[in-house]
Amino acid sequence: MGLFKKKDASIESLGADRLPVHIGIIMDGNGRWAKKRGLPRQAGHVTGAKVFRTITKHCEKRGIQYLTVYAFSTENWKRPQAEVDGIMNLLRDYLKESLSDFKKENIRTRFIGELSALAPDIQELMAEAQRETAHKTGMTLNIAVNYGGRAEILHAVKRLVEDVQSGKIRVEEIDEEQLSDRLYTAGQPDPDLILRPSGESRLSNFMVWQSAYAEYVMNDVLWPDFTTDDLDEALLEFARRNRRFGGV
Ligand code: IPE
Ligand code: IPE
Ligand code: MG
Repeated sequence: MGLFKKKDASIESLGADRLPVHIGIIMDGNGRWAKKRGLPRQAGHVTGAKVFRTITKHCEKRGIQYLTVYAFSTENWKRPQAEVDGIMNLLRDYLKESLSDFKKENIRTRFIGELSALAPDIQELMAEAQRETAHKTGMTLNIAVNYGGRAEILHAVKRLVEDVQSGKIRVEEIDEEQLSDRLYTAGQPDPDLILRPSGESRLSNFMVWQSAYAEYVMNDVLWPDFTTDDLDEALLEFARRNRRFGGV
């Protein structure tokens, strides 16, 4: 009890300059969480989706300006059709429910990834969610669905080539900023902190371009067990890091 109080006090006292502006979360471990309990993998996805809602609200409360969550990768289509359908149904439920919830929240929701491959009704709900929250002034929440970092870079490169062909930009003018401006996250700062729970230490194609200088925090907690205390702990760990960006 005393310990928690102390931790709470120190997280509360972290100034905005010590907090990450943009957090990325690879929400991993749903399947293993379910397996450990003798439940179907879908049970892990259901609980993971609830944790996502809790952690999103907590990030907003902590004053985080951008949160990007990895919900479904370009590689996740390899999973059994029933699991893919289960995850898409959870996404549908979330979208329907949040369309009324959005009114209470000050969160601007965006979807990043190759959305055109998703079911038409999901695409419509996503477009509606983006429209309904576009004017919000609080945290920006990017939900990555059918997202791959490499696919995102390819998408940006194709747009650059089109712009060269149409004479909008010259080859010599192409720089990092021009490429960044054509990513799904155009106009947003790069993530400062990337969290990967569940004990895996890999990026799995998440924000490949944007994470060049991100701080990584990994832990062994499976995503459905991830708590607001785990998030606070990661924020404290981030505050202890010494970022040099290649300098001294
Ligand atoms: C993350 O949990 C959810 C998605 C990738 C959609 P997993 O389903 O990958 O869970 P594990 O890694 O198998 O435990
Ligand atoms: C990354 O997790 C994708 C998401 C969390 C959406 P995976 O479970 O798909 O990644 P690997 O297979 O462990 O690399
Ligand atoms: Mg996984």
